[in-house]
Amino acid sequence: MRAIVDRGFTPRRLARWEARAQELAAAAVAGFRSNARFDVVADLAVPIPMTIIAEMLGVENDRLADFKSWSDTLISTATGSSRETDGGRALIGALGDLRSYLRPILRARRAEPSDDLISVLVATEGESDLTDLEIHLFIVLLLLAGNETTSQLIGSTVDALLRHPADLARVEADPSLVPEVLEEVLRWECPAQMVPRQAAEDVEMHGIKIPKGAQVALMIGAANRDERRFPDPDRFDISRADKGHIAFSAGPHYCLGASLARLEARAAIDALLPELGRWERVDETREYVNSFVVRGLTRLELRARR
Ligand code: HEM
Repeated sequence: MRAIVDRGFTPRRLARWEARAQELAAAAVAGFRSNARFDVVADLAVPIPMTIIAEMLGVENDRLADFKSWSDTLISTATGSSRETDGGRALIGALGDLRSYLRPILRARRAEPSDDLISVLVATEGESDLTDLEIHLFIVLLLLAGNETTSQLIGSTVDALLRHPADLARVEADPSLVPEVLEEVLRWECPAQMVPRQAAEDVEMHGIKIPKGAQVALMIGAANRDERRFPDPDRFDISRADKGHIAFSAGPHYCLGASLARLEARAAIDALLPELGRWERVDETREYVNSFVVRGLTRLELRARR
């Protein structure tokens, strides 16, 4: 699967998406100027990655509100507290809706391929062993998993800068520091806190025996705050010398979308940064996504300074 979709993530293709991300960010920020308040999460952090993945896949982006609602349902029911109360009904419902939505699109691309990722995936039938269900699930992964984390990175970056005015002033004076800020946010507010694994053999780590076959939750968010690796790990420090966080995991499953996520987040922050001084938080409350995997704010409202 990776070998196939890697074709959609070549440096040449990514350069095209970078230009598109900058265009979307500039349009969103221009919209804020005429408003008295806006929500960094809903109005900037969510639409950029969502629009880009919809365009990459070749699905209509007038369904962005549906994608977001399916995504929220999948996250809260699979990894949030509602998984205990609703017995998986909402999860199965959202997956079913997505499958019904995608079925005619896949059929259309099989009949008439175009220059998008869904066409690439369906064209490999015969060439690879991907079943129809696997193609569906992979599109679900691309459509949802990569978006939520990238939105969280953008929201958490604005939040971190507002909480650290000295750093904000430094980056405002020198926007070339934005990539360093993003790497520190990836470490400090790791958007995907956990990756699941199954032990392929008996392993012993730090005196704990993990038997072959055991389910393991690797808390990468905790690893990114390991004081043995990162001195004073709870401190947000954009000048940290060690950038070796594992927010995009490591090894063969290293995030396929890491470069895309970085360029989308950079486009969003670059566009907002020159304006940020004119805005202040509407309130200090922080509401986090209801999930033990996804880490980030559900909203971050700003209003024009008086
Ligand atoms: C800040 C944003 C993002 C973060 C923090 C993030 C994080 C991760 C992590 C931790 C994994 C590894 C899972 C594992 O080891 O089992 C992963 C895998 C993956 N990510 Fe991302 N991701 C982000 C954005 C994206 C984007 C934008 C896309 C695509 C559009 C994407 C697509 C994928 C895919 C397809 C995989 C599975 C790779 C595999 O299993 O081989 N991600 N991501």
